[in-house]
Amino acid sequence: LQKKGLKDIQASRDLKQLNDIRVHLLGKKGPITEVLRGMRDLAKEERPVVGSFANKVRDALTEAIEGQKAALEQEKLTQQLAHEKIDVTLPGQQPKLGTHHVIMQIIEQLEDTFLGMGFKVVYGYEVEEEKYNFEMLNMPKDHPARDMQDTFYITKDILMRTHMSPDEARELEKHDFSKGPLKMVSPGRVYRRDTDDATHSHQFFQMEGQYIGEHVTMADLKGTLEFAIRQIFGEDRQIRFRPSYFPFTEPSVEVDISCFKCNGKGCAVCKHTGWIEVLGAGMTHPNVLKAAGVDPEVYGGFAFGLGIDRFAMLKYGIDDIRNFYLNDVRFLDQFTKRG
Ligand code: PHE
Repeated sequence: LQKKGLKDIQASRDLKQLNDIRVHLLGKKGPITEVLRGMRDLAKEERPVVGSFANKVRDALTEAIEGQKAALEQEKLTQQLAHEKIDVTLPGQQPKLGTHHVIMQIIEQLEDTFLGMGFKVVYGYEVEEEKYNFEMLNMPKDHPARDMQDTFYITKDILMRTHMSPDEARELEKHDFSKGPLKMVSPGRVYRRDTDDATHSHQFFQMEGQYIGEHVTMADLKGTLEFAIRQIFGEDRQIRFRPSYFPFTEPSVEVDISCFKCNGKGCAVCKHTGWIEVLGAGMTHPNVLKAAGVDPEVYGGFAFGLGIDRFAMLKYGIDDIRNFYLNDVRFLDQFTKRG
């Protein structure tokens, strides 16, 4: 029995087969158990002889089974390792990377441009005090110009900012002019009660900025803005300044740029004039300086506010502002600059 058992064990090819052999030899119905169970029928003096012999056979088989089990397991592991080996020379799978939103790309380009001209970048509050959004910008209560920007009010004194100018008032109030002029830009989301269509949105992006110092002129305004616009749109874009009105600047201008990308194609953004307004600006009103505690007899300068969405639409020939907010990957994927 022992010889045959050992042979079977050696010959077993996998763990299941080995387990069957174990059950067969050593299990409850196996021959060894049978012999041990039959002991009570034996004469007293025969019992130790038969018992110790049976135990020896059992131990030998158990040991052989354990040995074979370890060998089979090792073999299985070796096979598995060979099977699962990684071929490091195979080309990897590129994970799909996200891209910066086209609006963010324009903001970053503008920030870089203005940083390069010595401006600092600040970020204000989307939920603003009425005082900074209107009051300090020369728009007291009941001022008709408040209607120019239909407002989402949260309470009587708190609102969703309608432009980025509140940051200008805040910075003006804080700035220490004995340390030099104030040069800042501020990009962010603004909100207006507008019905959404291809060119209007109740929420869009602006960047405003100002340069206030002792000898800042309208020529600085023109030079700075022309430079910034050409950085985004290229040297050959035409730019025109038109007189306009804003309560916080005097004189005020609006800036249009030519839209050759859309010319002749009935581009929704440019209508039929071939020009689109992208920017409001002007020389900061003395009342705005006074409200922030700055002496208009000594300091002055310019401020401007530009529409980021319109910049993006013009730069890339996008004809519907709503594309920016739908988050359709097919749209976003076209602007593949990696962040
Ligand atoms: N705040 C103005 C707007 O949102 C833009 C502007 C800013 C005009 C600064 C003049 C000076 O329309």
